Amino acid sequence: MQNFVYYAPTEVVFGKGTEEKTGEEVKKWGGSRVLIVYGGGSVKRSGLLQKVEASLDKEGIAWMEYGGVKPNPRLAFAQEGVRKALEFQADFLLAAGGGSAIDTAKAIAHGTANPKMDLWDIWTGKEALTKSLPVGVVLTISAAGSEMSDSAVLTNEAIGRKQGLSTPYNRVKFAVMNPELTATLPKYQVACGVVDILMHTLDRYFTHTKGNEMTDEIAEALLRIVVRNGRRAYEDPADYAAASELMWCGSLSHNGLTGLGAETDFAPHKLGHELSAKYDVAHGASLSAVWEAWARYVCPEEPERFARYAKKVWGIEEQDPVKAADAGIQATVEYFRSLDMPVSLGDLEGGVKTEEELLDMAKRCTGNDTFTVAKFKVLHQNDVLEIYRRANHR
Ligand code: NZQ
Ligand code: ZN
Repeated sequence: MQNFVYYAPTEVVFGKGTEEKTGEEVKKWGGSRVLIVYGGGSVKRSGLLQKVEASLDKEGIAWMEYGGVKPNPRLAFAQEGVRKALEFQADFLLAAGGGSAIDTAKAIAHGTANPKMDLWDIWTGKEALTKSLPVGVVLTISAAGSEMSDSAVLTNEAIGRKQGLSTPYNRVKFAVMNPELTATLPKYQVACGVVDILMHTLDRYFTHTKGNEMTDEIAEALLRIVVRNGRRAYEDPADYAAASELMWCGSLSHNGLTGLGAETDFAPHKLGHELSAKYDVAHGASLSAVWEAWARYVCPEEPERFARYAKKVWGIEEQDPVKAADAGIQATVEYFRSLDMPVSLGDLEGGVKTEEELLDMAKRCTGNDTFTVAKFKVLHQNDVLEIYRRANHR
């Protein structure tokens, strides 16, 4: 096991009806003027926003709405949010929604606490973050894990770049998680979420670090639980038992727990972000579209690790590690298919890509071959290009 620091300071308020406690939570964490950040309107249609606002009113907390966040949230929208937050003199950001609303709220918090800094400079590390405003979350989709993660992801449309920022300032103060709220999700979004939750652990699980028993077993248990309950939630998004498991797994899968003490990889995420930046593909779909090609490309580095995954997660008893690894990859791909998720670039809207398009993404992913991606197999520009090529079929 390698040295690690584990810091997961978010207060989790989990279960039925917990959205009623939002006002109390904001008050507890020092908020008195709240900018409420949300997406395209699902929280209005479900009545959640009105409930949250009523609970803020009950505590005498002033609030202002800032809606309209799009999936794959944009830098410009966050910058506009900073202007709104400054004007309103917000001292607290509250996200009602999924990763896109949460990440936008995190960005607005950073920008508002540092009004002289350019938000993209903060994002790219040119400006060091030393303070931010507190953020709280009312979660409506089990997927990105932003409610407990130290990351936030924005797309800078002007330069076609989707980029994450990892910092302790991205840890939210509290997350209200009522699995009932995910009952209104379209099946496609449930499936995207299931893939993303699996991938936050898989992108940590494929590592050469040895002797990490606790972390490995936690990861494998989480993967099995997500596979099982993902199927159920996909069939019926209103299945509360399945939704509860998914929601809690979604948070644990990306709060660091499933990769502690090990070197982590995250190649599928990096490859997927390029697809989302270029074609606005939903995050979960971008991951399932590249995963098989990535897995088959890197598997020869250590087939035994893939064989262990096959056995522990999919119950594959094959003794030959190469055959077992292959069966585990196949089982994963079939699972994605069973959720109607894309398993190749050709499955995405717009179909197969040209060689030029693939090269463009490979270049962006590696800064024109000036840096490498991942650890399980270190990927240069040519490796990334080759993975995109192998994923580029119907
Ligand atoms: O915008 P609204 O109308 O709310 O609709 C959303 C959106 O269309 C809808 N939705 C959410 N909850 C709903 C609902 N519809 C009906 N009922 C509900 N209860 O679902 C759609 C997707 O929402 P979004 O917030 O985009 O989903 P997700 O949580 O998957 O977030 C994706 C974003 O998070 C980033 C992704 O890259 C992507 O930009 N990620 C953030 C991470 C982090 N901060 O740690 C890590 C992840 O790896 C990921 O990169
Ligand atoms: Zn993700």
